[in-house]
Amino acid sequence: MRNPFILGYISPEDSFCDREKEIKDLSRHAVNCTSVVIYSPRRYGKTSLIKKVMQDVSSKRFMAIYVDLFSVTNKDDFIQKFLGAVVRSIGKDITSASFLTKLRKLFSRITPSIDIKPDGFSISAKYDTGTGFNYLLEDIFDGINKYFNSKKMKGLIVFDEFQEITELKESKHVEGVLHEYIQSQQNLSFFFIGSRRRVLQAMFSDQNRPFFKMAFNYPIDTILRQKFTKYIQDLFQHTKKGCPVDVSESLYDYVDGHTGYVQKLAHILWDITDAKASMDSLRIAQKDLLEMESVDFQGVFGSLSRMEKRLVMALAEEPADKPYSKDYLATHKFSLGGVQSSLKSLLNKDIVEVNKNNIYRLTDPLFARWCRRERL
Ligand SMILES: Nc1ncnc2c1ncn2[C@@H]1O[C@H](COP(=O)(O)OP(=O)(O)OP(=O)(O)O)[C@@H](O)[C@H]1O
Ligand SMILES: [Mg+2]
Repeated sequence: MRNPFILGYISPEDSFCDREKEIKDLSRHAVNCTSVVIYSPRRYGKTSLIKKVMQDVSSKRFMAIYVDLFSVTNKDDFIQKFLGAVVRSIGKDITSASFLTKLRKLFSRITPSIDIKPDGFSISAKYDTGTGFNYLLEDIFDGINKYFNSKKMKGLIVFDEFQEITELKESKHVEGVLHEYIQSQQNLSFFFIGSRRRVLQAMFSDQNRPFFKMAFNYPIDTILRQKFTKYIQDLFQHTKKGCPVDVSESLYDYVDGHTGYVQKLAHILWDITDAKASMDSLRIAQKDLLEMESVDFQGVFGSLSRMEKRLVMALAEEPADKPYSKDYLATHKFSLGGVQSSLKSLLNKDIVEVNKNNIYRLTDPLFARWCRRERL
């Protein structure tokens, strides 16, 4: 039988745990044409959740367009990704010749082309290389609006990993122009999603930036313990295995309920379980998980400065409420300047977060465990 615990993003057909309130809230925002900034640490389930919302709101009169900006490299790449997403959403019968003719009528500066390959198709935007970014963006929005007007539709545009545009060489220009067009859309709502929370939030909370106060903030938290442990037990049961309540609870607690790790750990545990999971098999699964992730953790840790490494180790050992206090500095032999600059950089990289109770801690609970293990 297939392992029921999914490691990639969960497609709407896979079994999905909870998120009922989030789906309801976000679906409402989408159809009300409200724009929202959605953020959480990495692998909490943003993309899976949004795909679910997109499926929920999609209808004859409402279209959701998903643009993945992960690894966007420049303005041209942005246009290619954006157009590709629009065409994929519009195109039900994407490979027919009549579709391409209709599609081309929507745009005036861009000529979309579709290359059919053995394993699918790719969409590309062809245009005069001298055309300014603003004109290309205008062309895409005009195309969407033409299509929507002809079908009496409204829609949602999701920009996943939106903070990536700040990494572009031309980021100021892109941010400014994009904002200008987004602001003037009557029939569209926008979701801006990202995991580098500081970078994303800064775009919307700094009054000197174009996107200032453009959207509601919507943080995504972990899935509730009770719901997630029940989900684990159920998936074991549906696949003719068992997972006792206490094992599922220990599993959740080991990774502080971090969505991606809960799935991964449950996946490993399911694999090594014949009939019924036990605390002993959970311990083996935990060790395997830590081992699997340790290459990545070594990479992250290795990229830090000496002071950042020391601070990361200290926070892994014990989260701190007052890392700038005299006591804290004295205990760890840190200088104030050292902590200030390292903490700023670690927060920016989202390696450290400030939690609800204003405690500084490592964002990734498994990375914290790995650091503690390395220290021994
Ligand atoms: N509602 C859910 N129920 C069960 N598992 C989930 C749920 N949402 C997400 N997951 C699991 O969590 C993992 C991360 O999900 P997803 O890729 O959607 O997160 P993300 O926040 O978009 O991550 P990233 O920061 O890498 O973009 C996936 O492996 C998926 O299996
Ligand atoms: Mg994602």
